[in-house]
Amino acid sequence: MIIALSSLTPIFVAIICVLIGIIVKGNRTSNKKEPRKTSKKVDSHPWVDDDLKDNTDLHPVEEDDGEWQGLDDDIAHIPFSTERYSKEDMVKRSRDFYELLNKRRSVSGAHTEPWTFVVVQDAEIKHKIREIIEEEEEINYKKRMGDRWVNDLKRLRTNWIKEYLDTAPYLLLIFKQVYGILPDGKKKTHYYNEISVSIACGILLTALQNVGLVTVTSTPLNCGPRLRVLLGRPANEKLLMLLPVGYPSKDATVPDLTRKPLDDIMVVV
Ligand SMILES: Cc1cc2nc3c(=O)[nH]c(=O)nc-3n(C[C@H](O)[C@H](O)[C@H](O)COP(=O)(O)O)c2cc1C
Repeated sequence: MIIALSSLTPIFVAIICVLIGIIVKGNRTSNKKEPRKTSKKVDSHPWVDDDLKDNTDLHPVEEDDGEWQGLDDDIAHIPFSTERYSKEDMVKRSRDFYELLNKRRSVSGAHTEPWTFVVVQDAEIKHKIREIIEEEEEINYKKRMGDRWVNDLKRLRTNWIKEYLDTAPYLLLIFKQVYGILPDGKKKTHYYNEISVSIACGILLTALQNVGLVTVTSTPLNCGPRLRVLLGRPANEKLLMLLPVGYPSKDATVPDLTRKPLDDIMVVV
């Protein structure tokens, strides 16, 4: 769905490195939990699992029957363009954005910074990434994911061919570190690692938009281990997101999506 991408100047490397190296500090902290009733060492994600175990539901919803409840099967695609800034403006906007965001602080937090941002610019490695993703995505589409998933994506006109993995000047692969390694070689717990990295990715998407660059949020399914090995990342890092980054081509189009109205997404109590 995205966009052929024209080539970028090396200055972008500097911008993006600054952006991604210092995106955001701090993690959210959790509420104190009641002590567990069991003394057994239960699980490794207590801060998440308590929520998942919440089966209180005031308005239970029936499982659907698997039928595609389709919005438009073939949603219209419309031309897409973004603001184009001069290189100087991009650098200035990046700096201003960084300065603004660098003032953001959590009042307290675990501050594990459980992320690694891999910037791929090498054409050969980009192509290897493409091969891995297309191979796995073809299986996702044809076998693994089932009809509903394939139908849900149909209207966005995506498939397993990902030309942008070759043509985008940069691929950002963002890994969550599910644990850290202490200087003595022992594991360091990375609380809330997925939430933290997702927040960082959201800010990164905003930072890219702020300088007139475009991307598509992508989560290459079932590709994580192979891409991790290709990029020489350690086993405590799991791929969370892949962002191809560049300028939109002149004939770029996007699906004509609408956003949910505020009343649907905000509840004031
Ligand atoms: C968590 C997440 C994963 C996504 N994964 C993919 C993906 O693998 N491939 C893709 O083409 N789009 C992917 N998308 C992009 C969505 O299709 C897109 O964000 C959505 O349609 C809204 O469009 P917009 O980003 O243009 O507002 C993903 C989006 C999110 C939030």
